[in-house]
Amino acid sequence: MKITVDSADPASKKTDALCGISDSFSGIDPAVDAAVRELAGEIKESPKRVSRTSTMGMIPARMIMLTGLGRSDAESDAIRLAAGRIAREARDLNLKNFAIILPERPTMDAALIASCVVEGAKLALYEFDEFRGDKAGKEPSLAIMTSGKTDIKKAVSDAEKVADAVTYTRSLANLPPNECSPDTLVAHARRLCAGTNLRCEILGRRRLEKEGFGGIAAVGRESKSDPRLIILRYTGADKDQKPVAIVGKAVTFDSGGISLKHSEKMNEMKFDKCGGCAVLGIMKAVESLGLRVNVVGVIPAVENMPGGDSYRPGDIIRLYSGKTAEILNTDAEGRLILADALAYAEKRYSPSEIIDLATLTGACIVALGANVAGIISNDDLLAGRMEESSRRTMEHIWRLPLNDDYMEMIKSDVADMRNMGVGRVAGTIAAAAFLRNAIRDTPWAHLDIAGVAWTQTGTKHRSYNPEGATGFGVRLLVDHLSHV
Ligand code: BES
Ligand code: MN
Ligand code: ZN
Repeated sequence: MKITVDSADPASKKTDALCGISDSFSGIDPAVDAAVRELAGEIKESPKRVSRTSTMGMIPARMIMLTGLGRSDAESDAIRLAAGRIAREARDLNLKNFAIILPERPTMDAALIASCVVEGAKLALYEFDEFRGDKAGKEPSLAIMTSGKTDIKKAVSDAEKVADAVTYTRSLANLPPNECSPDTLVAHARRLCAGTNLRCEILGRRRLEKEGFGGIAAVGRESKSDPRLIILRYTGADKDQKPVAIVGKAVTFDSGGISLKHSEKMNEMKFDKCGGCAVLGIMKAVESLGLRVNVVGVIPAVENMPGGDSYRPGDIIRLYSGKTAEILNTDAEGRLILADALAYAEKRYSPSEIIDLATLTGACIVALGANVAGIISNDDLLAGRMEESSRRTMEHIWRLPLNDDYMEMIKSDVADMRNMGVGRVAGTIAAAAFLRNAIRDTPWAHLDIAGVAWTQTGTKHRSYNPEGATGFGVRLLVDHLSHV
């Protein structure tokens, strides 16, 4: 989507649709004042609709469009959502171009408003049409109309980079499992790094087995596609500065293994790679924005399949941390591969902090629904900073506890721990307890994105989250890394 910034008088703008959000049109050319008032009346009734009318040649724009804010708890997101609705309308009407006049908000400066408009519009128009004959139409181009008092060009181009990283994550995460093996992710990681400031390193099956990655090796053992550990490095600060480590679960398909899942919605387990895909998107954004921070991205990539050589319930495996795990359910595979990746990241890179993203537990969807991710952390400061990033990006998170009582849930009689808790009790926390045992004392935050990583059927989703993978975590973590 082509985006330009224009500080000319909106009333003189030649465009298919001159669009406003809430009070954008205040002080507009009197020629269209009456029309604007009429649209405003409609919006007042139902703020989330997009109303439009022909200008009948009174100004160069062919039509004017208006939508409301329609949400009071989150100003910035109200603007993203409104821009998303306008962009979808422009596309549905097959417009070649449209222009959005920035509204004024007392609590936000023009640059922030502009970046929300860009994110909302770009993210709303993403569509996964790679395998479809009837491709989505050409995206209309967007002009951002600003009063020109402050320069918003940098904010606009940064927001474009962030949105590009989100759609990149979505387009990987949406890939079907027959077209996306761990090796496919490796190829994408390599392509991402080529010609940039990013470095890429891959550990293959033999090295993983030899060097003690017992979780990754066990989970990935039966699949025809070998397991991989993908490592990406970005050096944006002094070489001696400790990196932030970002770890993402990438199970390219989670059948459950020997503890086979029910067939209902099993197709959705192609999305079990969303955490890893988010890490790739985060690295892309960090590099293109040139953030002054060191980051290492670690992605354990496997396919969890049943068969004659699968790992099984009853097995005891040794993880990279040196601790042993009794397998009670082969469908609790995410924590096994993450435990290896977390221990490796801590040992090899001595990071200042570790954040992981994973579609880890169905229990997290039961607890928090489809709009809020769970966060579990051993560090109040880190958790608090993540909450600040969440407020800015409106990628919602909610903290769950993890005190020593919960560590009891994963005690085993035959090994150092077991790979599931007790029945259905606090399943999300039991999984986090397992991860907690993989690291020593590095500040750590775990994001369970099972509910938010893709749009759940039957739930209402945001205008800028079309059907499929959402790219959750990219905007949140990029914001976090911008405030290190
Ligand atoms: N990838 C799933 C979690 C999941 C399920 C995410 C549905 C999104 C939607 C994970 O590997 C898993 O299967 N977890 C089990 C753990 C259980 C066996 C302890 C679960 O949540 O049922
Ligand atoms: Mn599973
Ligand atoms: Zn899984």
